Amino acid sequence: MPNRYAVVLAAGKGTRMKSKLYKVLHPVLGKPMVQHVVDQLKTLKLANITTVVGFGAEKVQEQLGDASEYVVQEEQLGTGHAVIQAGKYLEGKKGTTLVVCGDTPLLKAETLQAVLEFHEQEEAKVTILTAHAQDPTGYGRIVRNADNQVEKIVEQKDATETEKAIQEINTGTYCFDNELLFAALKQVSNDNAQGEYYLPDVIQIAQEQQQKVAAYQTDEFNETIGVNDRVALSQAEAFMKKRINENHMREGVTIIDPANTYIGADVKIGVDVVIHPGSVIIGETIIEDEVEIGPNSEIVNCHIGKESKVKHSVATSSYIGERVQIGPFAHIRPDATIGNDVKIGNFVEIKKTKIDNKSKVSHLSYIGDAEIGSNVNVGCGTITVNYDGKNKFLTRIEDDAFIGCNANLVAPVTIGKGALIAAGSTITNDVPGDALSIGRAQQVNKEEYAKKYK
Ligand code: UD1
Ligand code: CA
Repeated sequence: MPNRYAVVLAAGKGTRMKSKLYKVLHPVLGKPMVQHVVDQLKTLKLANITTVVGFGAEKVQEQLGDASEYVVQEEQLGTGHAVIQAGKYLEGKKGTTLVVCGDTPLLKAETLQAVLEFHEQEEAKVTILTAHAQDPTGYGRIVRNADNQVEKIVEQKDATETEKAIQEINTGTYCFDNELLFAALKQVSNDNAQGEYYLPDVIQIAQEQQQKVAAYQTDEFNETIGVNDRVALSQAEAFMKKRINENHMREGVTIIDPANTYIGADVKIGVDVVIHPGSVIIGETIIEDEVEIGPNSEIVNCHIGKESKVKHSVATSSYIGERVQIGPFAHIRPDATIGNDVKIGNFVEIKKTKIDNKSKVSHLSYIGDAEIGSNVNVGCGTITVNYDGKNKFLTRIEDDAFIGCNANLVAPVTIGKGALIAAGSTITNDVPGDALSIGRAQQVNKEEYAKKYK
């Protein structure tokens, strides 16, 4: 097998998106488009991935990290000009170079693998991944000669009326003989409607040099969609959503309303999980068996243990144990670690807090920067007073403690094991284990006074 390399084109600003956010960073199901592309490439055996960055270079690099090498295209003079920049890493090398665009988020690794294999089997110098488009508007058209060989690619803006009628489109994905690619790019001119150096012009150059140009046509146009504007972005989102949801359903997940369920590409879900409408589950989330999510819940980067239920709630970057009940209307903010058999009820906010097994925070509480042991009951309206305007402090509640309703626990403070806090208390000092602590004004009843007052 020859060496294989990949070049990702991601330098464009994406003018048609009309956005401050650089095009390839627009998310599809919570993940930037270019990350989708690179994640697929990472599963192929490639000697090198080089991403061409320009607009938003730092942001794109920050997103992709060390999964790729980077070259900067200072001026966006076209896709051919973009690939020339990758010469820094690739020029002079023998092997096959796969070129993909950063705005084709639905491309699957298996398709890229198939194109690479086809290219190598055919001993072609160039192989284009093409697709049949119902509406080819905006794409480069594949022009074939009388022998059905690909002759050239014509861009929308340069196409004649006859060429515009061609429905076979250039998906923007190609395999090249690496040496031919960089030699041919030197001959590409910008004499066209957009005044750009077009990568697809390499095809015509190869053809003129009698080099073998092949085409690999996929049946799946949807997989090759290039996102240039927000209409296409919504189509990409819809295609990917359908693909992901169907995969999960085939693997034993019940999705009540797939059209209204948004699951990110990296989410892992066990069997007999039920997902109700209006749920958004994205990031590096893991959901174990028999969990129930939704309706109307947003789960980002969480681990949810088996048989837990999350209803009408938001959870971010947190670990949730088994048989936990969350919601309705709870907010689990980052860095919560919730044990097994815990209950987090309505209008409860949890942040940077560890809660051990079998504890309950059932109603209307804010629990932040806290460590709560097992079997603790946190009464309705309890607040950890964790912030003095400058610093955050820790509240510790040890096992078996019972916090009465509407308590303020002014951190730093520790409530000892088995302690009892009277309702309405404001606790500013540590409470020893098994003690009863009452921190509130004493009640005075003035007989008959109300009548007099009125
Ligand atoms: C391109 C192809 C077209 C194909 C379509 C598939 C060219 C000239 N046309 O058109 O044949 O049907 O993709 O989706 O190649 N980029 C750079 N530097 C540049 C210009 C673009 O890095 O100077 C990057 C963009 O960030 C983008 C990709 O290359 O990710 C494609 O550029 P775009 O402007 O979207 O090309 P299309 O008009 O879609
Ligand atoms: Ca495009």
